[in-house]
Amino acid sequence: MRTLIISFCLMLNTFVALSQSTKVKMMTDTDGNAINAHGGGILYYGGTYYWYGELKSGPTYKVPDSDWENYRVKAGGVSCYSSKDLKNWKFEGVVLPSNKVDKKHDLHTSKVIERPKVIYNKKTKKFVMWMHIDSEDYSYARSGVAISDSPVGPFIYKGSVRPNGNMARDMTLFVDDDGKAYHFYSSEENATMHISLLTDDYLSHTKTDIRILIGDKREAPAVFKYNSKYYLVSSGCTGWSPNEASYATADSILGNWTTQTNPCVGKDADKTFYAQSTFVLPVIGKPGKFFFIADMWNKLDLKSSKYLWLPLHLNANGVPIISNTK
Ligand code: GAL
Repeated sequence: MRTLIISFCLMLNTFVALSQSTKVKMMTDTDGNAINAHGGGILYYGGTYYWYGELKSGPTYKVPDSDWENYRVKAGGVSCYSSKDLKNWKFEGVVLPSNKVDKKHDLHTSKVIERPKVIYNKKTKKFVMWMHIDSEDYSYARSGVAISDSPVGPFIYKGSVRPNGNMARDMTLFVDDDGKAYHFYSSEENATMHISLLTDDYLSHTKTDIRILIGDKREAPAVFKYNSKYYLVSSGCTGWSPNEASYATADSILGNWTTQTNPCVGKDADKTFYAQSTFVLPVIGKPGKFFFIADMWNKLDLKSSKYLWLPLHLNANGVPIISNTK
């Protein structure tokens, strides 16, 4: 109990400290190296936060013959960092490495491995990772899944699918209070978002798969729940370039989603402060307090892309506010 109280206090202090600094753009791990976990997500498990993200290293190049800004690095796999206080991050290694030899493999360095998210399955006691898998021209449009007995891997890759036959690119996962897990993914050439209920083991999709934000062209989904309401923050579709975020709400996760406004306020709010959503992290023990986590992409040198962590709070009317000022 004493340990629990101490870690709870640590979390509160961290929230205050991070809120006061308002943003964290460059983050280093406990070895002093830049954190390399882009398009990431955070799992809170056993009193520790685990941050998973895309490992981006090596030179950035433009894919030949692409008629859009298709800047890439060779896929590096998925890295993991752990922290007790959201400030000190220990590098736990590359928990799902890319494949350097088999060109046909989903995880080959020539492929796209993006937006990994990890959830814990209480029934099977497994850690399940889903991620966007693509070919370098983004025509493959699939979701890959990997599994581990430990939050710090190794994760074993199980393969990829087009959920219920649908294209799937930018994505996130959300586990509801009843333990049911949902896969949110940009589909139909990114025009429409889908939400699919995963099976009880979280390893495949059920036939429950709904279309939301139809034709709205949203990506970079980040989902959270507050006061029984569901919130989905997303970006527009402008590749690595920043655009205006918006959020949608629903009273039930598979119900009607209503598009609202831009949750960002202040200078550069129309560009999401030059960042793109990737995750919304609930602060343990602080109902209504979250961190909005976003990527500040550097499209010409992707490995040096930074992160933006901003406090997100809900006002008395349940409206989320992400502010770049104190
Ligand atoms: C973004 C997407 C990123 C990445 C990028 C490639 O729109 O959110 O995850 O796929 O496009 O240009």
